[in-house]
Amino acid sequence: MAKPYNFTIFLTFSLISLTLLPTNHAIFSRSISKEELGIKEDDKLTHLTFYFHDTLSGPNPSALPIAKAKITDKSPTTFGALAMIDDPLTEGPKITSKLVGRAQGMYGFADQEEPALIMMMNFMFLEGEFNGSTLNVMGRDAMSDSARELAVVGGTGAFRFAKGYVQLKTVTFDQKSGDAVVLFNVFVNHASTSFKIESDNGGSTGSSTSDGAPLSSQASLSLMVSSFSFIIISLLYLCIF
Ligand SMILES: *[C@@H]1O[C@H](CO)[C@@H](O)[C@H](O)[C@H]1NC(C)=O
Repeated sequence: MAKPYNFTIFLTFSLISLTLLPTNHAIFSRSISKEELGIKEDDKLTHLTFYFHDTLSGPNPSALPIAKAKITDKSPTTFGALAMIDDPLTEGPKITSKLVGRAQGMYGFADQEEPALIMMMNFMFLEGEFNGSTLNVMGRDAMSDSARELAVVGGTGAFRFAKGYVQLKTVTFDQKSGDAVVLFNVFVNHASTSFKIESDNGGSTGSSTSDGAPLSSQASLSLMVSSFSFIIISLLYLCIF
């Protein structure tokens, strides 16, 4: 009879196409559990206190003017000027006190009425449990106000899923040079995960569920399950006929 023969060919082709599909196409989107991401606690609150040193003067400035507009020099608020920063963050108000991180990014004079900055920076931490982790911060800094706030818009490493705010308070400001020391108080809500950032280097490809891409193990598992069930169905069919 031709009928079972055709069905066997159909099953074989289905099996081959199933084998090819999951390996050529990663799963674009799926729901996962907190456990799969190693999240132990998802609303951990952390308070950090440190001092930000923005130094424009001297032989080793940590803030560099990088651009300005034609009207910037005539503007009472230096509107249009941009600076790139790699400012040390220290435990105490003195620049010689313990380094806990760096503030890397940019600020621009973004207000034509009063001196106010747009700040965009990454706090890169170098100390303790937050060594290697970053917080991504942006917001408006009206320098003449005694207290200001920036938003924590995200984070990496120990600060994954971060959200929060930074309170700024100027400690010293030199009108002539522009050098400033600012007290930063960070209040951040973030997840606490059991995985380290560096745990994903080489080695355990495929089976890793720790960071980034747990998709390949998932894909190969579903491939195995579907292939196995197709083989069983084929065998059952052949036994019956
Ligand atoms: C921070 O991490 C780096 C790289 O892993 C390491 O070299 C350094 O000693 C660490 N610093 C502290 C204070 O733990």
